[in-house]
Amino acid sequence: MSILSLFIYVPLQVAFIPFAVLGVMLVAYKQIVVSKKVGVSQTAVEIINARWTMHIFSMRDDDATAKLAAALPNTSLFGLWLVLFPLWVKFKISGSPFLYPRRPEPGSETLADFIVARTFYFDSIIEREIRGVEQFVMMGAGYDMRAYGNFLRDGVTFFEIDQPSVQQHKRAVLDGARISSEHVNFVSVDFTKENVFDKLIESGYDLTKKTLFLWEGVTLYLSETEVRKAIKEIRSKAAVGSILLADIYADRMFKKFKSGAITKTLEYTNESIKFTLNLATNYDEALSEFIESESLSVGETFFIGWKDEKGPLLAIVEMKCD
Ligand SMILES: C[S@@+](CC[C@H](N)C(=O)[O-])C[C@H]1O[C@@H](n2cnc3c(N)ncnc32)[C@H](O)[C@@H]1O
Repeated sequence: MSILSLFIYVPLQVAFIPFAVLGVMLVAYKQIVVSKKVGVSQTAVEIINARWTMHIFSMRDDDATAKLAAALPNTSLFGLWLVLFPLWVKFKISGSPFLYPRRPEPGSETLADFIVARTFYFDSIIEREIRGVEQFVMMGAGYDMRAYGNFLRDGVTFFEIDQPSVQQHKRAVLDGARISSEHVNFVSVDFTKENVFDKLIESGYDLTKKTLFLWEGVTLYLSETEVRKAIKEIRSKAAVGSILLADIYADRMFKKFKSGAITKTLEYTNESIKFTLNLATNYDEALSEFIESESLSVGETFFIGWKDEKGPLLAIVEMKCD
């Protein structure tokens, strides 16, 4: 089947080149220009596009993501189909992933795999930890749909934090798509200007309850001072036993993103890469040192792309409030 799928894929992919170019242009226009017009994050679109792709390629069932993605004005599922159709046909014939999306063995991930890998690593820790908490706070939630499907749990109160414009937009699209969000407490916070806990408490957060904080794909857009400030707040205010999950990016990822076009595109929607760590050598130690300097202890960690001689691209880390 694998050989047959390749025989079909190669000519199909070649024939699809003009459509794929059109698809890329459509997706980029919606993600960059429409996000700018609506005044929301384009990086959040990047993530929902990847999670929609994982859903379509049967890697991770996520109907809630598919529903939201279909309703968002700032992405184009038609454009994504134009880009991905030949790969999807190959996947359907052979039953195994090829080029993208794919899940290489741990440590062998490349830049193209990082959102897929990151989503799975976070999922695996959330799956385990959500059983022991009563509150789940998603910081910089963007278009993450974990609170509406895969991780919906009785007995857990959900909070989503994001910048006011992004949150208002998500809520309007959720309503338009008839996705129920009554169980979610929406908290508008700009990490660069406000204290997380003041706003959380106003929205019903209970300081005595063990909480899982998810901070996925956000630390890189803040300064080190802002990252440390939010960690300090969690350390000092969250109940003992609470967990903070975050991804921390390596300097080498920053260098890749700093290449002119990507930086300019991010700046167009007022997003730029700021905080990274030097994970080139002794990355385990470098990460622990950073976390322990904020008096949190390190739980499970994953280093994406660690087999590369330049070190990992990023770390997914569980930080414990003991
Ligand atoms: C790459 S997206 C990640 C979204 C989501 N966590 C996910 O994994 O799907 C980054 C998110 O962080 C939010 N964000 C960035 N800077 C922020 C800030 N200063 N305050 C609050 N949220 C912020 C953006 O609005 C966006 O929703």
